[in-house]
Amino acid sequence: MIVSAKEMLQKAKEGKYAVAQININNLEWAKSVLLVAEELKSPIILGVSEGAGKYMAGYKTIVGMVNGMIECLKITVPVALHLDHGSYDHCYQCIEAGFKSVMFDGSSYPIEENIAKTKEIVAACKARGISLEAEVGSIGGEEDGVVGMGECADPDECKMIADLGIDFLAAGIGNIHGKYPANWQGLSFETLEAVKDRVGDMPLVLHGGTGIPEDMIKKAITLGVAKINVNTECQLSFAAATRKYIEAGKDLEGKGYDPRKLLAPGAEAIKETVREKLTLFGSVGKA
Ligand code: 13P
Repeated sequence: MIVSAKEMLQKAKEGKYAVAQININNLEWAKSVLLVAEELKSPIILGVSEGAGKYMAGYKTIVGMVNGMIECLKITVPVALHLDHGSYDHCYQCIEAGFKSVMFDGSSYPIEENIAKTKEIVAACKARGISLEAEVGSIGGEEDGVVGMGECADPDECKMIADLGIDFLAAGIGNIHGKYPANWQGLSFETLEAVKDRVGDMPLVLHGGTGIPEDMIKKAITLGVAKINVNTECQLSFAAATRKYIEAGKDLEGKGYDPRKLLAPGAEAIKETVREKLTLFGSVGKA
């Protein structure tokens, strides 16, 4: 069963580990992530961006696919299905379609408008037992058309948004979606500490999980990060494994062109990346 992410993240915050949000792009992605979460007895969050939602033929299709996989693959660990960087309209579309967790990204609005819209969505989510993530201070880089400059969040604004009744908060701390540039300054732990001091027990979310050095990930978890989002790293490992298969001419051998064979190395590569992340984030055995 698809569950809200509220409880798993509160437990992670208390237990000083983080639950991975792995963004999914298709059936292979979802299947690989769910199988590894079950293998490692880890709670898991499947992230869906608006672009990925459109690509996978809409939110209802995704809810059906994930529910079907949970049943047919006998997945027993808690699985949250979460809208990533949702606009106001898409939050409602996902709620309607059966998601149990959404992110409203109002970070591009002036803070007053972010507050007003977040407040409305809080009420809609609370009435239906859906967990809600909000964002303050945009995450840098580009993800499915959502572009952010990577500014650090204002801790007082974080407190204002946290007090609206959201369940977890994404605060920009110099993190970026996609690959980090060579001159990246690293995470701003000063900002993270200031945010943590203001928002108390609220689980914090670290976006842009691809390419953040392990020691920074571990330090962020000690400072209240309970959810870490990863997307690009799985895309890179999938692409590399698929490239290797094609370059080795395997698609030309026998029925190597069969998509079930052609996509298998990529699916295995995603699994290995997810195993590494769940181990690093400390969620193994926490389901
Ligand atoms: P990466 O693509 O950098 O891993 O970031 C994923 C993310 O933050 C999704 O919201």
